[in-house]
Amino acid sequence: MSSLSNSPAWQQFSLAVLNSPSKPDALRVMTAADLEIDLTMQRSSAALTEAAQALLTQQGFEQYRRELFDGATINWTENRAAWHTALRAINPPEPVAEAITTERLRLTRFVEEVNARNQYRNVVHLGIGGSDWGPRLAFDSLAGQGTRRTLRFASNVDAHAISAALEGLDAHDTLVIISSKSFTTIESLANAACAIDWLRASGVPNPLDHFAAVTANPQAARNFGINDDRIFQFWDWVGGRYSLWSSIGLPIALGLGIDALNDMRAGAAAMDEHFLSAPIEHNAPVQMALSAVANRSVLGYGSFALCPYDARLGNLVPWLQQLEMESLGKATLRDGSTLDVPSSPAVWGMPGTDSQHTFFQWLHQDGKGAPVDFILCATPDHRHTRHHRLLIANCLAQRAALLEGKSYEQSLKEVSKTEKNLEKAAVLAHHHVHPGGRPSTLIVLPKLEARQLGALLALYEHKVFTEGVLWGINPFDQWGVEFGKRLAGDIERRLDALGSDPAVSPYDPSTAYWVRKLASGG
Ligand code: F6P
Repeated sequence: MSSLSNSPAWQQFSLAVLNSPSKPDALRVMTAADLEIDLTMQRSSAALTEAAQALLTQQGFEQYRRELFDGATINWTENRAAWHTALRAINPPEPVAEAITTERLRLTRFVEEVNARNQYRNVVHLGIGGSDWGPRLAFDSLAGQGTRRTLRFASNVDAHAISAALEGLDAHDTLVIISSKSFTTIESLANAACAIDWLRASGVPNPLDHFAAVTANPQAARNFGINDDRIFQFWDWVGGRYSLWSSIGLPIALGLGIDALNDMRAGAAAMDEHFLSAPIEHNAPVQMALSAVANRSVLGYGSFALCPYDARLGNLVPWLQQLEMESLGKATLRDGSTLDVPSSPAVWGMPGTDSQHTFFQWLHQDGKGAPVDFILCATPDHRHTRHHRLLIANCLAQRAALLEGKSYEQSLKEVSKTEKNLEKAAVLAHHHVHPGGRPSTLIVLPKLEARQLGALLALYEHKVFTEGVLWGINPFDQWGVEFGKRLAGDIERRLDALGSDPAVSPYDPSTAYWVRKLASGG
């Protein structure tokens, strides 16, 4: 059984992290596909650079990265490739080139046709998780630059969501897209049933003519009743949360234009190129991953916060939560043994400056706090220069404060200006101390456009991949989600059977109690 913590490279790495200053003074900014990534406020030193390289070598990074881009079976627990890079390549690789090009063309033609017919002023998108967050994030982030259609998203199984999504739309001018890799996901299918009822009730004679599907299971979409020429395919060798680059981008093409989808792919492909070719020391996803592993496994931070200082990027938080936590929320190694260092931090966050008035108190003065990823766009899409200046100032100030902190002596000096009672001032000053030395990363986009957004998402995808390699876990499966899903199916059957006998329930007393109580209407 393998032990990461006992391996020479890990020991060298953790020692180097601990010995590196928490307030490095040398600027460390790298450029990757138009983005600038500032890692100055993460630990660094010559010894750490050397140890990081040794750890990457020990964990087989070069080989896994090659396998990722070659479409090898790197998702070893599901016996599949994870070939999302092929989907966004300008020239897709063999043997999947033809399949990818054909689907790209079909999607483009479909969008051009409905545009030419001026058809579907409204699009309702039904999907969840990886079949939802990407298109939702892209639409929200880029909608300000001009939309062709009203786009609504309904993901979860709470019918309030689908009801709100359909509310006020003209059913006769609405296209419903079911996006589901498996085409078995209960949330998306239940919402699709609602949409059929709504179309029928609105007088649409053949509701299924108003549907399109994006799936890796075209037969199931056919069985559902969707026309073959409206089924857009992707494949098993793409992970659900990495599928945005496939036909899952259909709502983006309908809502923002086909160029937006292509530009996103081009930005992601540029980041792929950087990840493949930049030297390790200047390789942004690799360096971000090394900092993340150092923060989690050596410095003991249990979570990290994502604070985009751009309100349009609000949905980047849940998108990244799924990417990071579904990919890395596990601790089983290739040989079945358990990883023996802490891994998989929780991800949380909120756009700045709301986040400052919500949880920055904790970030500054909790005993431990959490590392933060700050994101800024250099040029906004509005003309309110003062607002933008304020936004930048706040972002830079928070980072500086987290790093610098405030000592007791500084605090006392400040407090003494207003509190003339020396004893009181001495006590009060303790409350003003900020420990500082708290790590953060700053990512700057020149502008929030499709290309930059694509590059940003690919940056995080490769960061997560590299963390998976460093920890030795498979970032492409999600067995934890599957387990809960199965139990939900069983509980639903019991709820339907009205008041099933708790004596024969296989569940704990609390679950059995609530199944019985809620089945009979509370
Ligand atoms: O949440 C689990 C999951 O399997 C995700 O990985 C996936 O993105 C989501 O469910 C939706 O699955 P599907 O695209 O098959 O409907």
